[in-house]
Parts: sequence; structure tokens; C-alpha cells
Amino acid sequence: MLNRLNPLFALVLIFSILYALLRKVYLSLSRQKFSSKHGCKPALRLPQRERLIGFDLLKEQMLAAKNHKLLETMRNRSAKYGNTYTATMMGQSYIVTNEPENLKAVLAMNFQDFGLRGRKESFGPLLGNGIFTSDGKSWEHSRALIRPSFVKAQVSNFDIFENHIQSLISLLPRDFSTVDLQPLFFRLTLDSATEYLFGESVDSLHVHDGSQETFASAFDYASSEIPKRYRMGPFVALYRNKRFFESCKLLHDFVDGFVEKALTETTKRGEQTEDKGRYVFLYELAKATRDPIQLRAEVMSILLAGRDSTASLLSLVFFTLARNPMVFAKLRREVDELGGKKPDYEMLRQMRYLKDILNEVLRLYPVVPNNSRYALRDTMLPCGGGPDGKSPVFVARGQIVTYCVYDLHRRRDLYGADADQFRPERWESLRPGWAYLPFNGGPRVCIGQQFALMEVSYMVVRILQTFRGLESRDTEEWKENLSATLSSLNGVKVAFSV
Ligand code: HEM
Repeated sequence: MLNRLNPLFALVLIFSILYALLRKVYLSLSRQKFSSKHGCKPALRLPQRERLIGFDLLKEQMLAAKNHKLLETMRNRSAKYGNTYTATMMGQSYIVTNEPENLKAVLAMNFQDFGLRGRKESFGPLLGNGIFTSDGKSWEHSRALIRPSFVKAQVSNFDIFENHIQSLISLLPRDFSTVDLQPLFFRLTLDSATEYLFGESVDSLHVHDGSQETFASAFDYASSEIPKRYRMGPFVALYRNKRFFESCKLLHDFVDGFVEKALTETTKRGEQTEDKGRYVFLYELAKATRDPIQLRAEVMSILLAGRDSTASLLSLVFFTLARNPMVFAKLRREVDELGGKKPDYEMLRQMRYLKDILNEVLRLYPVVPNNSRYALRDTMLPCGGGPDGKSPVFVARGQIVTYCVYDLHRRRDLYGADADQFRPERWESLRPGWAYLPFNGGPRVCIGQQFALMEVSYMVVRILQTFRGLESRDTEEWKENLSATLSSLNGVKVAFSV
């Protein structure tokens, strides 16, 4: 029996090998044809001891992350090897690029050629399959579902922020003693986001019975583990961390309670999605889908995308303001022009200098400093190839195009010799286009951009209407803290005077 099967098995094996070889040859020829048709030339290869797994690069990245110098390391690498180069890490082939033209191609012009692979695996246990983790038709569905919640009418309703900013202000010392604003801002945005999403705030600035504390710490812990999971790439299944999965479960149980309430309430109320006169995101969403798992996934996505990013920006704004007294004084004059009135949408839109400050903070400290896209099919980037870096570069299906926004935003050839300096005035004439991507670009541009800028502007104005003076109480250099978003490792230690 064995003797009779062997020749058949050998034949199948030979055919399989032949087929694989022919396929490889065919693929290689068609890729060569594609490359020469578009004039593609290879990008520089990062020197690596071995390119099968790319352990050396992984080790370098992990060490840099541990020393809180990942972003500067990436910046130094591109200063040495150019704005576009290829590398291997965790067995995955990468094209690293900081060319605005290439980013425009990836995020907008050739949007259909790229997807998110890796995000679902790393964020999945926390977020499920919502707008932030999905691709293709499923993403289009999520985006269409969520878009109506970010129209101007919702973005210009600041009532939901007022109580929370007043709670924060009441916690700030008035005797010129030192306070670390960063953890307070993370509480503040959790409180305002949960109120907006669920119709009820977790009120973490005022812990009453410990349940809010549990929600806040589970959320903080779960989101802080995401970058570690993401760095594991295809080996993420090896990630074993009981506390992470327990935190996800706790958060899901908590959110499920609100989802259930939203489904019941919207059945009773029909089109009416306000609760006690307030707009509630979950109620609006529950009009469009009755699927509790999808509702949970979308709400978790918005919570993750919107909460940490807004808190990081607020923290970085005060970090830079406290270290730049002249800028603070100029902003102070702009705030004083409101005559102490609570700002509305139009008033905030007129505050040119505040807008320039936010732009400049997001340039120097983009709160989403690294990003990447996965090639779903063979495609190309318009530049970065050949010795002069001006030729198109072939991108093979399965390659990852990765970009460091932090590096892009500090390019001296794009922003001038003073690119490292905090100078909001540069925005009076600056129009950087695809060289400026704090909110990304193209069809997946941040859906909450206006909401975030309005929320941060509102909070900044209200704080400055309460306190006259601001002083930094930290002499250390800025150090990165890379969790779900970028923040300051040493916090934001400042003192206020009334
Ligand atoms: C300063 C604050 C914020 C910054 C810098 C920021 C930045 C970004 C960036 C860079 C992306 C693109 C991620 C990617 O596709 O790889 C993104 C996506 C997203 N942001 Fe924001 N964001 C901020 C605030 C918010 C807020 C307040 C919300 C909601 C309330 C929000 C909701 C979202 C959502 C849902 C996505 C996914 C969009 C999609 O994939 O279609 N963001 N954000």
C-alpha cells in the first residue's frame, strides 16, 4: 500500500513545487514589468545584519522605546539613511517613508491599495470590530454610521464640557504650588467623552464609590498595552497578559450596560436621541443599528480614538505654554478680549493665535506620532527610489508602509532651520499640505478633528479665564511617553496664579 502511494505522493509533491516555482517566476516577471512601466527604482536598504527576521532592528527599536527615545531614534535614522528606505522587522518587510508625496499616495490617491493589517489583531480584544479596527466595506459601514454624530451642531455644543472643566479647575491649587496637569487632563477627557458617548459621565475627577476608578484604571491599563501588542506584529498571539484581558472584559461589561440602556431608551423614544436635553452619541447610533456588539465596538473605538488624544494635546499645550511665557502672554491677551464670556463656536473660531498654538503643538508633538498601512496589492509610491530618491518605488503586496509623523513635522527642508523650535507665528503664512498630518489625511482622516480642536480650545480658554499666571515647575527636557498616544513622560508640572 505504502509502495503504491509513494509515487503518487511524489508526483503531487513535484507538481506542487513546480507550481510554486512557476508562480514565483510569474510574480517576479510581472512585478518587473510593473516596475519598469512606472520607472520604479529600489529605495535604499537599511543595513541589517540579517534580513530574515530583522532581530537587530527590533532590538534597537525596543531599546529606544524603553529609553523613551523611539521618535528621536527614528528621526536620526532617516537623517542618516534618507526619507525613504526599506527594512525588515519581525520577519515583515517595511518601507519607511516621510515624503509628503508618498503619504498622499498611501492615504488618499491610492487609498484602495492599502489596509490596516495588524491593527485588528492588536486592538481587537479591546475594541472589537469598529471604525478604528475595520477595513473595506465594514469600515465604510462604520464610518457612515458615525459621521452624522460629528456634524457642526454636535461639535459646537459645549455644555457637556462645562461641568467637567469646572470640576478640574476646582482641583487646581490657587497658591502657586505645583500641580501635575497631565493625569488630571486624562481624567477630564474620560469624563467628558463618557458623558458625550453614554449620556452619563464616569466622573473620574470625583471618585465616589470606586467603580469610576476601576473603569479609568482598566481603560488606562488596556490602552497602554496596545503599542506592545502592536510591536509583536504577526506574533501577537504569543502575547499573554491576564490583566490586559481582564481589563478588556471589565470595560466591555461596563459599556454593555450603557448599550442595553440605549437600546431600551431608543425603542421607547423613537427619533428623540437626547437625554435630559443633552445629545447622546449611543442613542443616535442605536437608531442606525440594533446590534449590541457593533454598538459596543463603535463606542469603544471612539473612546480610545478620542479620549487619550485630546488629553495628550491638552497636556502638551500647557507643557509648551508654561515654557514659553511670551506665547502665553500673547494668548492671554486674546483670551481677555472675550471679556470673561463663556466662548461659543464662533468665538473660538475667531481666536487665530490659539489656533496657531494648537497647530504648532501638534506639529512638534503629534499625538499619533507613528502610523502604517499594509499593501493589499502590488502598487507603488511616487518617490523615494534610486540614488537621488526621486524615482517611484515598487510596493509589493504584503509590504507595510510606515511613517513617522514626528519626524515629518520636524524636517528642516520643509519647516526651515528652526523646525525644532516652538513658534506659533510660523502658522500665519504656513500651508504645509501633506507635510502636516496630525489628524492623518484622505478618507480615513480623523473624524473627530473639529470636535477635538473645539474641546481643547474651550478647555484652554476656561482655564485661562480662571487663572492669570502660569509657570513651569519642571526643568527637565521633554521626554516621550508612548502609550496609545504621545504624552510627556514627566507629566506637566506647573503652577498657576489667580
Ligand atoms: C487632538 C486630538 C486628536 C488627534 C490628534 C487625532 C488623531 C487621529 C489620527 C491621526 C487618526 C488616524 C488614525 C489612522 O487611521 O491610522 C484618527 C482617527 C480617528 N479619530 Fe482622531 N484624533 C483626535 C481626537 C479625536 C476625537 C475627539 C475623536 C472622537 C470623539 C476621534 C475619533 C477618531 C476616529 C473614530 C478615528 C478613526 C477614523 C477612521 O478610521 O475612519 N479623534 N485620529
